[in-house]
Amino acid sequence: MTLIVANWKMNGSAALAQEWVRHVAVRIRPGVEAVWCPPAVYLHEVPEIQTVKRGGQDCHSAASGAYTGDISAAMLKESGCAYVIVGHSERREHYHETDANICAKAERAIAAGLIPIICVGEKWDAWQAGDAKQVVAAQLAGSIPKNLHAHQYVIAYEPVWAIGSGKTPTHEDIHAMHTHITMCTEKEVKVLYGGSVKAVNAGEILKLQGVAGALVGGASLIAEEFCAILDSAAVSGQI
Ligand code: PGA
Repeated sequence: MTLIVANWKMNGSAALAQEWVRHVAVRIRPGVEAVWCPPAVYLHEVPEIQTVKRGGQDCHSAASGAYTGDISAAMLKESGCAYVIVGHSERREHYHETDANICAKAERAIAAGLIPIICVGEKWDAWQAGDAKQVVAAQLAGSIPKNLHAHQYVIAYEPVWAIGSGKTPTHEDIHAMHTHITMCTEKEVKVLYGGSVKAVNAGEILKLQGVAGALVGGASLIAEEFCAILDSAAVSGQI
C-alpha cells in the first residue's frame, strides 16, 4: 500500500474540509491509502468515510492533564483518527520539541491505537556540510520507541530545506537517504518522503525504491492536485 498523507498544517476552513473530502473520496485507487490530517477542529466537519483515513498533526505525550491547548492521542482516536504526525520539523523548530518528547508522543500514540508518523530530516546547514545521514540517524535513534514492530509506526523523511521551498533533493539523494533510514530502523518499516511534493514530481519520487509514500503539505490543500498525486501513487505502485 502506498501511503499518501495530506498535512494541512494551520490552513483550510470547514467549507474546504467538506468539499475536499467529497472530492478526494471518489478518487482513491487500489493500492493507495490516503490520510487526511486537517486542523483537529475540522475532523468533525465531515462524516467519517472508509476510503479517506484521518490523522492528527500532533498529540501530547501525556494521557490527559493540565496542558492548555493540547490534544491527546486518545482524543484523536476518538475523533476517528488512525494516524498522528509527530516530530514534524515545524514542531521541532517552533515548539523546541526534542527527540525524547517525540519518542514519548509516539509511545502514547501507539498506546491509544494510532500509528505515529515520525518525522525526521536535516536542516540546510547539515545538508550542505554532508552531515544529513548522521543527523537523521541520531533523530531516528532518539525518536523511535524501543521494541516496536515495523507495522506499528511510519517514518517520514522531510529535509527541512525542502519543506515549502519548491526544492527537493535529487532522486539519487532521496533513494540514498531512504536506504540509510531502512538500515537504521527495520527492513519493513514504511518510509515516506516529504518536502515540496506536488503533482508534477510525485510520480518520479514515488517510483524510487524505498519510498513507500509521501507526506504532502502545500499541494494537499488543493483537492485536484492531491488527487493527481494519488493517481501517480497508483501508477508507480504498479511498476
Ligand atoms: P510541503 O510540506 O509539501 O508544503 O513542502 C511538507 C510538510 O511539511 O509535511
